[in-house]
Amino acid sequence: MAKTIEKLLGNNLKWAAQKREESPEYFEGLSKGQQPLALLIGCSDSRVSPSVILGSDLGEIFTHRNIANVVSHTDLNLLSVMQYAIEVLSVEHIIVKGHYGCGGVKAALEDQAIGLIDNWLANIKDVIELYKPELDRIEDPHERFDRLVEINVMAQIQNIKHSSVYRKAMREGRKVQLHGWVYDFRTGLIKVLTAE
Ligand code: CO
Repeated sequence: MAKTIEKLLGNNLKWAAQKREESPEYFEGLSKGQQPLALLIGCSDSRVSPSVILGSDLGEIFTHRNIANVVSHTDLNLLSVMQYAIEVLSVEHIIVKGHYGCGGVKAALEDQAIGLIDNWLANIKDVIELYKPELDRIEDPHERFDRLVEINVMAQIQNIKHSSVYRKAMREGRKVQLHGWVYDFRTGLIKVLTAE
């Protein structure tokens, strides 16, 4: 394990040196501030790191990640990120990015009891309950799982719309576009579900 952590720190030294070589002003530029173009709410899964799969540079995406990309109205952490992104950074796009094969969504679908996380996944169980007729109609369990991942993204977009932060932004006439994406780590590609 120690070796792995040392490898990460070694990678950081190499990366920083390479960046400085490519552009001597790179870090100085970043230290002046940030003007990200989007807030991205994604899953914590180590296989779906947004800046890696979007090929984006530092300073481009403001990020919040949690298990199964949930937007909860009692999550002070997420609401603070959203408020800061909209009101201070003037971000004009919020992306909810789910992913096929999401362990959190699967645990909720299979009604697994894992511990503390069950409380968090109750947010997804609410979604399952709401869309039960549609999900029940899908016979293939893999297909049902994939569909729930998509439905979950759309449900979290609805949750953004109902949040006090988003509603205030709309009252103030701010331009905030909502995007629903699902990433597929079997292909490396993103499926766009909605842009509204
Ligand atoms: Co996930």
